[in-house]
Amino acid sequence: MRPQWQTIFVSGGAGYIGSHCILELLHQDYEVIAVDNFVNSVDENGEAISLKKVRQITGREVTFYQCDLLDKAKLDHIFSQHSIDCVIHFAAMKAVGESMKNPLLYYQNNLISAMNLLNVMKKYGCQQLIFSSSCTVYGNPKFLPITEEHPVGDVTNVYGKTKYFVEEILKDISTAEEGWNIISLRYFNPVGAHPSGLIGEDPTKPFTNLMPYMAQVALRKKNVLTIFGGDYDTVDGTDLNKNVRTSTVILGIRDYIHIMDLASGHIAALKKLQDEHLTLKVYNLGTGRGTSVLELIHTFEEVSGKSIPYKIEGRREGDIVSMYANTDLARKELNWKTKYTLKQMCEDFWKWQCMNPNGYKSFSSESCTVP
Ligand code: NAD
Ligand code: WQD
Repeated sequence: MRPQWQTIFVSGGAGYIGSHCILELLHQDYEVIAVDNFVNSVDENGEAISLKKVRQITGREVTFYQCDLLDKAKLDHIFSQHSIDCVIHFAAMKAVGESMKNPLLYYQNNLISAMNLLNVMKKYGCQQLIFSSSCTVYGNPKFLPITEEHPVGDVTNVYGKTKYFVEEILKDISTAEEGWNIISLRYFNPVGAHPSGLIGEDPTKPFTNLMPYMAQVALRKKNVLTIFGGDYDTVDGTDLNKNVRTSTVILGIRDYIHIMDLASGHIAALKKLQDEHLTLKVYNLGTGRGTSVLELIHTFEEVSGKSIPYKIEGRREGDIVSMYANTDLARKELNWKTKYTLKQMCEDFWKWQCMNPNGYKSFSSESCTVP
């Protein structure tokens, strides 16, 4: 039996997925060293507000450094101060639209920071890594549900390419050098929030993802949700010409996964890395279930008691029609499965939105109106 790992380094720990995973790590008694530069998360005098809430929920400490992964000297200093057993690398920029407008920013941030991290890990003898990858590496699906064997690399946007390129780097280093033990997790569509309503998604950059946008409409901060769809050749869609629902045209299908299921997937991956030497393995994290935009809207309306006015427009450029995971491998090899339903994803996201209508800087237990 190998000694239990104790200390996990988490990059991008103040962000949406990072903060929820840290909460799970603390519940599992790991020590956490987290870093973030707040390019897409909220701070108060250099402290991550999300992690302040995580401390409040768990009653446990998190060591936090404000650090940009592009700053090699600071990263080196942090590694020199701690004995790190494993790294979970969440830090990246993730806005697809922005990545198309400013590719260099994305290549610089997502690739150089990954390389700086890998170099410092190597220097300090820590070769255990969990990498945040994405279903976006599969590009337009050639078959559904998508298995890990599905071809990758034919990616339609710059952000997605950075994920694919980092996976290639991981493949090359783990082939060339002994000792690397890496899991790349390809997330599908993480949504929801911690059931306490105390932590959730609060990006500082503009966002266009469906669930947060829908919640803004429910809160009447935005007037209407634009549904991108209409001309897809599938089942549950919308007739663009008549602006009504028909049975012949489709809206985008996605595999939404509750953020706490995603977090437990990281714990399962961590345990796998600790027990076995894998070199490099890839796992999908999704529910295996496809949900259409309208199904999500209707579930959200039911849960929130709010109507979501929407208008149907044409397809969003680069949008994929339908994407959902085959999760057999993670179920079998990581001994992991999802627990939360679509309704719980909506309930928990709505609770977070109601309790924090303006994100982390506006906690209000008064304003919560979850039915
Ligand atoms: P997020 O933006 O909420 O969190 C990422 C965090 O990394 C942010 O707090 C940001 O400030 C930080 N960061 C970015 N660049 C940094 C740098 N150079 N140095 C230090 N910190 C830096 O995003 P998230 O949704 O939590 O995503 C986490 C990871 O999961 C990302 O790698 C993302 O690409 C990946 N992912 C996200 C989704 C999704 O839909 N949310 C899906 C698939 C994959
Ligand atoms: C979901 C569905 C839209 C907004 C993104 C990233 C991808 C990966 C997963 C990180 C689609 C429809 C959306 C709106 C709509 N993330 N929609 N109106 O497109 O699956 O991908 O998250 O790796 O890289 O691009 O997520 O939430 O933007 O869209 O109709 O206002 O909702 O067309 O079908 P997507 P999304």
